[in-house]
Amino acid sequence: MKRVEGKVALVTGGVGGLGSAAAKLLAREGAKVVVTDRKEREAEGLALAASLGEGAGLFLPLDVTREADWASAMERTLAHFGRLDVLVNNAGMGIPKDIESISLQEWRLVHAVNLDGVFLGCQYGIKAMRQCGAKGSIINVSSVAGLQGVPTIVAYGSAKGAVRLLSKSVALHCAHKGYGIRCNSIHPTFIETNMVAELANSSGNPEKARAHMARTIPLGHLGEPDDFAYAVLYLASDESKLMTGSEFVLDGGATAQ
Ligand SMILES: NC(=O)c1ccc[n+]([C@@H]2O[C@H](COP(=O)([O-])OP(=O)(O)OC[C@H]3O[C@@H](n4cnc5c(N)ncnc54)[C@H](O)[C@@H]3O)[C@@H](O)[C@H]2O)c1
Repeated sequence: MKRVEGKVALVTGGVGGLGSAAAKLLAREGAKVVVTDRKEREAEGLALAASLGEGAGLFLPLDVTREADWASAMERTLAHFGRLDVLVNNAGMGIPKDIESISLQEWRLVHAVNLDGVFLGCQYGIKAMRQCGAKGSIINVSSVAGLQGVPTIVAYGSAKGAVRLLSKSVALHCAHKGYGIRCNSIHPTFIETNMVAELANSSGNPEKARAHMARTIPLGHLGEPDDFAYAVLYLASDESKLMTGSEFVLDGGATAQ
């Protein structure tokens, strides 16, 4: 028996570094996976969904900031696979600016993707899971930046911090209502993906920036996408059935200091 056999999972930002690692591992462990991402990443999304195995993957365009996209993606997921058990609210982006340099427009954009997107995901995810009677798992991707102040990416930290508490309120709501739906947040440190490459490049000296990132992590190195994927797999599976409203911290010891 595979670890998430028979479950249907939807991953937002599924074409990106962490989303694609999670989608592949969930499929390898028996889940059907709906890979979603922005329309402009459709070609990569279709290729990824096709690579997950015969009938195991489906790509749907989903801009997490657009409510109509959520309504359509949930409807199409239920029509295609008949259920939704796992929702990974993974889509995200950041703007490396501090409190003095960020504009209101940039602030709003970062919150629209990282926070409003997760809010809509939780709302539509609960509705879809209840519709099909799933004892589901909602996995919200926050960050170490949602646990500690990070002055150089101020809006990102604000949004990720809000995701941490949103997840706890969603978890308690679902528990009090007796839905059997769980909700947890994941807090990764730096993991080698496009997002980290962009952050490193924006500093003007990517090598120095990477070395600095590694120094913030007591284990001494950045994480790998699979470190994230295995955390998602655990939270998606019934192995984590007692976990809700929790913070899954994947930080190489950073927040232990
Ligand atoms: N890589 C890290 O070091 C790290 C650390 C902590 C948290 N995270 C979080 O992990 C998640 C995944 O990040 P990643 O490292 O894979 O980055 P990535 O840039 O490789 O992937 C992000 C994905 O989100 C998608 N996306 C962006 N805006 C979107 C929107 N409006 N609607 C739908 N999709 C959208 C992108 O198209 C992309 O596929 C993000 O929430 C990020 O904040 C990453």
